Amino acid sequence: MSDEFRLGLFYTIVRPEEKWLLAAAEARGVGVVRFDDGEVTFGLEAPPGLPDVLLNRSVSHTRAVYASHCFAHYGVPTISPPAVLELAGDKIRTSLCLAEHGIPTPRTVVALSPEAALRAVEAVGYPAVLKPAVGSWGRLMAKVDDAEEALQVIEHKSALASPIHSVFYVQEYVPKPDRDLRVLVVGEEAVGAMYRRSSEWRTNAARGGTVEAAPLTPELSELSLRAATAVGGGVLAVDLMESPRGLVVHEVNPTPEFKALTGATGVDIAGRIVDYALAVGRR
Ligand SMILES: Nc1ncnc2c1ncn2[C@@H]1O[C@H](COP(=O)(O)OP(=O)(O)O)[C@@H](O)[C@H]1O
Ligand SMILES: [Mg+2]
Repeated sequence: MSDEFRLGLFYTIVRPEEKWLLAAAEARGVGVVRFDDGEVTFGLEAPPGLPDVLLNRSVSHTRAVYASHCFAHYGVPTISPPAVLELAGDKIRTSLCLAEHGIPTPRTVVALSPEAALRAVEAVGYPAVLKPAVGSWGRLMAKVDDAEEALQVIEHKSALASPIHSVFYVQEYVPKPDRDLRVLVVGEEAVGAMYRRSSEWRTNAARGGTVEAAPLTPELSELSLRAATAVGGGVLAVDLMESPRGLVVHEVNPTPEFKALTGATGVDIAGRIVDYALAVGRR
């Protein structure tokens, strides 16, 4: 057995982010154990050769959750930990958590059946936004301007196979400027921020929104750090909007992409994440 420290990388595909993480580990003289999320199997006893800490970079939320449970079972700390993945990966639980911590967030109403969904929409008022409770990249979200549109979206969602689409997460439409904010928190610090701008109301960089560095004002840093800490902390990307009543947090992402943020800010985010992982693994 070597006592050399090793970083685990659990991944789906090696994107630029994973390449940068591998390079940052190498630059620090840290060995990496790779786990392809489509190949790996997990028994009930810890296998040999486990890393000291695992960076969860799977693009699949489901795979990330189960893998983090398995590694945690083997005694390997994971970034993000299972509880954080489960909480932050679920927009309903995240909204509840943000509200519990007094963090400003868009007004939200949940319904658990298609029959109750219209009432949730009407309680929020128009325009309203319907989002899948679990999902990313702005996929399968809808903005509805009246009851007719709402009923059509509710009907379509109800016809989808996965039961998650018959849970209705309804949010007030925040009349933001043509942009939102993305802040990456690593441990105790907000390390970078960017605006994501789009002519579409969904400003996700993955949907083609353009990005630009944003000033990390004390207010933005503090609010992002509070949101990240509320869901359990670690490496988390906090999404915020500039609403008429000030900044509101609408999402906290537990396995964030950071290519666009690295490009926009020039911050060595991969290096910061690896340093944080080493600190967690050495605890
Ligand atoms: N309530 C809202 N009002 C206005 N725009 C919103 C609202 N919620 C989300 N958006 C826009 O849609 C994008 C995606 O929403 P988000 O909740 O972050 O889901 P995802 O997990 O798909 O990124 C946000 O970045 C923002 O631009
Ligand atoms: Mg988002």
